[in-house]
Amino acid sequence: MDLGLKHKTALVLASTKGLGFGVAKALSREGANVVICGRDEAQLQSALKTIESESGMVSGLPCDVSQLSCLDAVFSHCESTFKPPDILVYNNGGPPSGDPASFGPEDFNDAFHKGFHTAVYSIRKALPHMQKSGWGRILCITSISVKQPIDDLILSNTTRTALTSYIKTMSRQVAKDGITINSMLPGPHDTDRLRSLAASIADQNKITEDQAMKRLAADIPVGRLGSTEEFGAVAAFLCSKHASYISGQAIVHDGGAIRSTF
Ligand SMILES: NC(=O)c1ccc[n+]([C@@H]2O[C@H](COP(=O)([O-])OP(=O)(O)OC[C@H]3O[C@@H](n4cnc5c(N)ncnc54)[C@H](OP(=O)(O)O)[C@@H]3O)[C@@H](O)[C@H]2O)c1
Repeated sequence: MDLGLKHKTALVLASTKGLGFGVAKALSREGANVVICGRDEAQLQSALKTIESESGMVSGLPCDVSQLSCLDAVFSHCESTFKPPDILVYNNGGPPSGDPASFGPEDFNDAFHKGFHTAVYSIRKALPHMQKSGWGRILCITSISVKQPIDDLILSNTTRTALTSYIKTMSRQVAKDGITINSMLPGPHDTDRLRSLAASIADQNKITEDQAMKRLAADIPVGRLGSTEEFGAVAAFLCSKHASYISGQAIVHDGGAIRSTF
């Protein structure tokens, strides 16, 4: 299926590893010009090399997406290298876990800055070009914690639910401009972030990291963790010409793990 992404420009934030990288690779394979970013320069160079050798037009720069000045820089880089983004994939590192009662106002301020304000800032920066051209795709990576709050991830539960509400509201405002805004809610996927969670579970329970990864997969009906390739393929579809009638949706990608009907 031709996704209609050839020569589109895609900016994928926080994308040198894991889910963001999976999305960047999938968009690049479909012919989009892709800009990626992450904080670690060596990881950025390695990700650029992989995408260049597999598919094609990619560029990137070191950037901490939690800093608004860095977001300005990455948008400028995208515009000067290709053009302003037709597709924005918003992603950021997840907030810390811990006892819900242990987090105070400063922790929530920080989490809302990183997980909500930076998303709003990025979306508002991306919209004018999309509105002018009459076409745009915005996709935010959040978490299944939006649908099923996770006990020790209250910062994720709250900030991502707020972002989901923002997305729903904004999607109605820009629908007439040919722009869709959706979010993807990952369940457990095999990434470095999950592996570091598995390492701490292994430590606490005196088991190996592989055993901890199996434990994380145990409650998933498909019987395994998700892959970044699977995630990227669905994301690319949501950014495609075929997904023009899907907007304001929070799409779960979890191997059937969530128990709720809606
Ligand atoms: N994997 C899962 O099972 C899962 C499930 C639910 C939700 N999520 C959420 O999905 C998002 C991605 O998770 P992941 O598993 O793909 O993580 P990951 O494997 O750790 O990859 C995170 C990527 O984002 C970059 N990044 C992190 N913080 C950044 C920042 N401040 N500025 C720029 N780049 C940044 C990292 O590069 P640098 O470190 O070099 O900056 C890396 O490229 C997170 O918000 C996570 O909470 C993941």
